[in-house]
Formats: sequence, C-alpha cells, structure tokens
Amino acid sequence: MSDSSAPQQPSGDQLATKSQAWSALFSEPMSDLVKRYTASVFFDKRLWQADIAGSLAHAEMLAAQGIIAVADHAAITRGLAQITQEIESGAFEWQLDLEDVHLNIEARLTQLVGDAGKRLHTGRSRNDQVATDVRLWLRGEIDLIDGLLRELQLALVEVAEKNVEVILPGFTHLQVAQPVSFAHHLLAYVEMFARDGQRMQDVRRRVNVLPLGSAALAGTTYALDRERVARTLGMVDEQGRACVCQNSLDGVSDRDFAIEFSAAASLVMVHVSRLSEELIVWMSQNFGFIRIADRFTTGSSIMPQKKNPDVPELARGKTGRVVGHLMGLITLMKGQPLAYNKDNQEDKEPLFDTVDTLKDTLRIFAEMIGGQVNPATGAKEGGITVNAQAMRAAAARGYATATDLADYLVKKGLPFRDAHETVAHAVRAAQAEGVDLSELPLATLQGFHPAIGADVFEVLSLEGSLNARNTLGGTAPAQVRAQIARQRARLV
Ligand code: ARG
Repeated sequence: MSDSSAPQQPSGDQLATKSQAWSALFSEPMSDLVKRYTASVFFDKRLWQADIAGSLAHAEMLAAQGIIAVADHAAITRGLAQITQEIESGAFEWQLDLEDVHLNIEARLTQLVGDAGKRLHTGRSRNDQVATDVRLWLRGEIDLIDGLLRELQLALVEVAEKNVEVILPGFTHLQVAQPVSFAHHLLAYVEMFARDGQRMQDVRRRVNVLPLGSAALAGTTYALDRERVARTLGMVDEQGRACVCQNSLDGVSDRDFAIEFSAAASLVMVHVSRLSEELIVWMSQNFGFIRIADRFTTGSSIMPQKKNPDVPELARGKTGRVVGHLMGLITLMKGQPLAYNKDNQEDKEPLFDTVDTLKDTLRIFAEMIGGQVNPATGAKEGGITVNAQAMRAAAARGYATATDLADYLVKKGLPFRDAHETVAHAVRAAQAEGVDLSELPLATLQGFHPAIGADVFEVLSLEGSLNARNTLGGTAPAQVRAQIARQRARLV
C-alpha cells in the first residue's frame, strides 16, 4: 500500500517542510529512506474528511471560547473548504515530505490563509488529532458495514422464503444426520449475521468517543470546551450526551476500539467463511445442491469442464487475512507504555484493509446469494439456483429419518436406548437391501418390533420428520415461516 515513489518537493512558495513542523532544534535533515519509513501520508490520506471535520469542530470551539479570533475561525473555515474542493478534484498535492495527512492539510491551510492556519493547532496535538480522525472514519465505515450486513441478511431471508418446503440432509460431522428445511439452514446464517450487526453496534458506542482535547498526552492549558466539539462531531450517546475520553493519556494512546472492531470484523468473516465452505461443497458435482451464477466462478485453463467457485474460496482465504490483521493490531498494542507511541501509526493499514475486504465481501455475497434487481422488472435475478431434487435425494439416501423411527417407538412405550438399538438393526437390514427405511415392507419393520404399525410410514417420510420438529427454533415449516416473519420485521 505504501508508495515508495521519490518524495515530491514542496511547490515553490513557503510550504512548511517536515522538519519545520516541529522546530529549529534539528541539526540535520532526515534521509530519504527515513522519511519514507516514517511517512504515512500515502495511506492515511484516506482520513482527510475526518481530519477536516475534526479541525472545523476544533476551530469553531476555539473561536466560541475566545481562544482564537472570529476572523481566524472564518479564515480557517474558508481555507478548509478550498482544501476539501482541491482533494475532491484531485488537485491537492500530497507530499511525502509532510509525513502524514494532518501535516499535509495544515501546511496547505497555512499556505492559503496565513497565520490563521498556524493558530488551528492551538490546544491540539497530532496525537489527539489522529485518534479522533481514526474514530470518526471508523464510525462512518461501521455504519456502511451495518447496511451491508443487513442486505446480506435480507438476501438470505428472500432465498429462505422460497425454500421453506425444500428438504436437504442436515449434517453433523458432515455425515447425514436429520432432514432439515433449506430455509432453516439459511436462517442459521441470518442469526450469525444478526449477531455480527449487534456486535458492530456495540463497538460503535466505544468508537464514538472524542479524544480531541487530550492534546499530546496530559491535556491542555487552554479552556477548551471538549463536549461542544463532541456534539459538533455527533459523538453523543443514545441520550444525546457528549461522549468524551475522560483520561488524556488513555485518549491519545489506546487503540482498543480498533482491535474490537477488528475482532467483530473477523467474526463476520468467519461466518462468511463457514457459508463459503457450504456453498463450495453444495456446488461440487458430488452434491449438486446449488449453482451460483457464472459471473462468480471461473473456468480452468486446462480442464474445459470446470467451473470453479472462486468467490467463496477467496472469501474463505481472505478470512485468514482479516484474522491476521486482528493479530497484528493486538500485538501492536501489547508492549506500549503510556501514552502515544509511533507504533500506533501501524494501526492504519490493517484497519483499512479489514474494512475494504469486509465491505467487498459482504457486497459480493449479498449479490451472489440473492441476485441483482433487474431494473426492467424490479425483481431480483441471478442469485443461487437450488436443485431441490438433488437435496431431497441426498436426504432420502442417508437414513436421515432413523431418529424419527426411534422417537416413534418411544411414543409406543419403549425406553429410548432400546428404541435406538432396535432402529440400528432396521438400518442395517435396509442397508443390506440397498433401500431406505421407508421402503422396507411393514411386515419386515414389524419384525424389528411388533409395536410398529402402518402409521410408521408417515413418520419415516422427510415431510413427517420436519413437521414433527415443531418446537421453537425447530425445522418444521410452521416454525421456519414464523422465523422468516420475525427476521423480515427486524430487517425493515
Ligand atoms: N501519523 C501519526 C499516526 O498515525 C500521527 C500522530 C503522530 N504523532 C507524533 N507524535 N509523531 O499515529
């Protein structure tokens, strides 16, 4: 990510250079290698909007408190508006020499509005500035991620709605266990992504707290109104109270909010990865349960028959990358004494990459599963295609209703352990014949236990098995429909 191009020279007139940003104390300039090593501008420039928002709120407060003149505030606002426009249009010249996004913007501001620009940094340090910027930026990203998580859940619910009566084998140990509704299976992922959304919301509360005013580490000698700045930046709780870091040392230095976010993001990716694994298995020839649209697959350069599930495989792979970033961030923090240390500059690339990877993955999965709206019809098209026959055949093949037969015998008075043993004999006999339990004649079944009657065939059917699991959270279609309604109501 970092740009290794040669440092650009400051353009003509008096842009402060990096060494001028602190003092005349330094007797020799940095080497180009050290400049490149310590600079972050080529990745942290993505914080520019947050940096400007933070500066505007700070300057407004400085003026309101009488710390800077109203005219200086006006000049700062005007200068930052121009810088916004320059960055948006691509005209802004980012300079490696100015190390990071903060110094780049401040230097340009001073170039544009003179001394007023130099007054902006009153009562502020880059330490509280960067912590504020990362929090503001991350808050916006969490809100976007929240929307994308909802879209993925909605896509899953939509596919579930069409597949309540579609039956596939449920697995434990990847061995056929009991039949389940395909909708029920998809709704399990809706539960996971719903919890992921809650985790993101919870993290957001701790992200949305203002470090600005902590200054370098110890607070500041100016009479700042930190709560005013927090309110201007929307850093308020559910009751509208300003949220401000209450300890300056902590405010400038901890990145636990980034680590927490990264952990929440890792869990989202772990859930996506589990789903990916299922999609990959389901679309293999040996299962043939689903197809995904061709645009999410690739061919092989040597085997003409292949359509490879590259997108789910990559998502599974990228999960490792996101979890790796979590390890990076948490390790970054562990050895740091109070307060700010330059180590913290290393929080950005893993955090940025986590956000990018997560957003792309969620977008692509919502479309791959639910399809895309066709503008002509308004209907979604091109999501996963379900092969209900293949699912059903796999469930019928695997003695998936053996538990139902045991439960049937229990209802006829057998202790469960005996019923279990009786059914094991029946399964063995059916296996020897190469047929399902439901295909054994009644007389044969009665040979295993005389309590078995003609009503057993309903019990041995896949539908009978599903319908019998009609308790909260079970796979009976009535329960599944209730869950779909609940999720729909939650997601509107
Ligand atoms: N680029 C720095 C960072 O990302 C900004 C803060 C620098 N502060 C300092 N005292 N060197 O953390």
